[in-house]
Amino acid sequence: MFVAGTCGAACAAALSACATYQVGAAPAPAAPAQPEAAPGAPGGAPQPATLAYTSDIPIGGGTVFAEQDIVVTQPESGRFRAFSATCTHQGCPVTEVAGGTINCNCHGSRFAVADGVVVDGPADSPLPERPIEVNGEQIFLA
Ligand code: FES
Repeated sequence: MFVAGTCGAACAAALSACATYQVGAAPAPAAPAQPEAAPGAPGGAPQPATLAYTSDIPIGGGTVFAEQDIVVTQPESGRFRAFSATCTHQGCPVTEVAGGTINCNCHGSRFAVADGVVVDGPADSPLPERPIEVNGEQIFLA
């Protein structure tokens, strides 16, 4: 049975902890729901950051963007594709695009620049496609 006055230090600590939760205190300001529009964006619409410029992507090859975990390819002039840069074998990052393939140097898997399918294992599934948007000379993550 609980008797008033027998609580001691444990109750004092519990009550002081409750003092930090004030009823009726002003809530913290909410974070904006949408990122701020880039200056000059038409209509104030948010403008995603540019991933690359089309001139960064060799025709018949591609470029690995390790920080974004994406590889962008240009199988034919003016046609761009993007794939995950994480190898489907054991998860190493693919390191280069050379000889018409996206290459993982961990165990030698190679994937086609056109569609990410396996050209050489040990990987047995394609690189997942990643959505991008090309607008003029700029390539954005979609
Ligand atoms: S993790 Fe890429 S080939 Fe093994």
